[in-house]
Amino acid sequence: MPTSVNIGLVGAGLFGESHLQAYRAVRQANVAAVYDVDMDRARQRAKDFNIPRVCSSLDEICSLPEVDAIDVVTPEDDHVQPVLKALANGKHVFLEKPLATSIADCQTIIKAAKASGRTFMVGHLLRFETKYGIIQDELQAGKLGDIVSMHARRNRPKTLLPRYGRTHPAIENSIHDIDLMLWYAQRPVTRVRGYGRQTAGPKHAETFWGVIEFGNDGPLGIVETIWLTPLEAGVPLDDAFSLVGSKAVARLQLHPSPLAFFRETGYEAPDLSYDPRVRNSAMGCLRDQMAHFCDCVLENRQSDVLNPMDAFRAVRVALALMESQLSGKDVQLTDWE
Ligand SMILES: NC(=O)c1ccc[n+]([C@@H]2O[C@H](COP(=O)([O-])OP(=O)(O)OC[C@H]3O[C@@H](n4cnc5c(N)ncnc54)[C@H](O)[C@@H]3O)[C@@H](O)[C@H]2O)c1
Repeated sequence: MPTSVNIGLVGAGLFGESHLQAYRAVRQANVAAVYDVDMDRARQRAKDFNIPRVCSSLDEICSLPEVDAIDVVTPEDDHVQPVLKALANGKHVFLEKPLATSIADCQTIIKAAKASGRTFMVGHLLRFETKYGIIQDELQAGKLGDIVSMHARRNRPKTLLPRYGRTHPAIENSIHDIDLMLWYAQRPVTRVRGYGRQTAGPKHAETFWGVIEFGNDGPLGIVETIWLTPLEAGVPLDDAFSLVGSKAVARLQLHPSPLAFFRETGYEAPDLSYDPRVRNSAMGCLRDQMAHFCDCVLENRQSDVLNPMDAFRAVRVALALMESQLSGKDVQLTDWE
């Protein structure tokens, strides 16, 4: 039985590089090939990470016999073609969030993934993060009681806006918290309302609030994403989550950080949760998620943590929030399967 998975990386940008760092720290992963529409970038990543093959097309990387799985880390609205091509070539697929940016594209991917029988998962890495995972364990054990309210903040430095302003913040960033709320509540979303302000964003509001109702008598959720933190503040991840249950309250915040550096250049609170590095090796939930993907491929099974239908529901809620923000009206969600 094979003990490692040969991976072909499609999309070697900022987060593609994080995936490569993560794979370096995963014993059962071997990155065999890389493809990016920017060939110079692909060549540079191959050099930096000792990847034996640089491909010049999607067809080439997806048809390599030595590649078992394709990892798709392309921009949000460019997920469909690489996933379909990989599945059509019999490869297992890991796809970065969001599943897609339209309902039709989500349905196309889900249908192809189901028909393929291959391992397919969409990266919602917070399900592998210790603190968020402990909240889920507490809920499952009944220690928090019934969820009454959830409140999430996920704010980022404004220097990231030129890159991520390409996608609406509900789909780009709040989708992480929407996914967590769906995972925790395990109930249909019935109505949403989105609010936005555009003071700096090139294409979309960079300041976004979303209100989510899980039924008339179910939990209420609020998600906040604002891309305006000054980089100089030294707080790259200003994230928080609070859950009020009928029996207890869970409160999580990444800042104030238990570790901070007071440097000559200013304050700096490093990432200790998502993609931290120790001894030049990736730790944290991105690494753990990629290890889980490799385990599922090796065991020829689907994930019991990441379910494509959950990823689809998260996109549905994010798109409804975006629609509401743009129209200024509530949006009802029906046919929640
Ligand atoms: N889970 C997380 O915390 C997290 C964080 C950042 C990004 N992401 C997700 O990762 C994905 C990639 O984001 P990024 O930050 O790396 O963006 P990026 O713009 O830095 O990189 C995207 C790369 O894909 C390449 N590319 C574009 N179209 C392509 C195609 N059809 N085939 C091959 N390569 C193509 C680009 O040349 C670029 O190198 C997005 O879906 C994003 O939302 C997730």
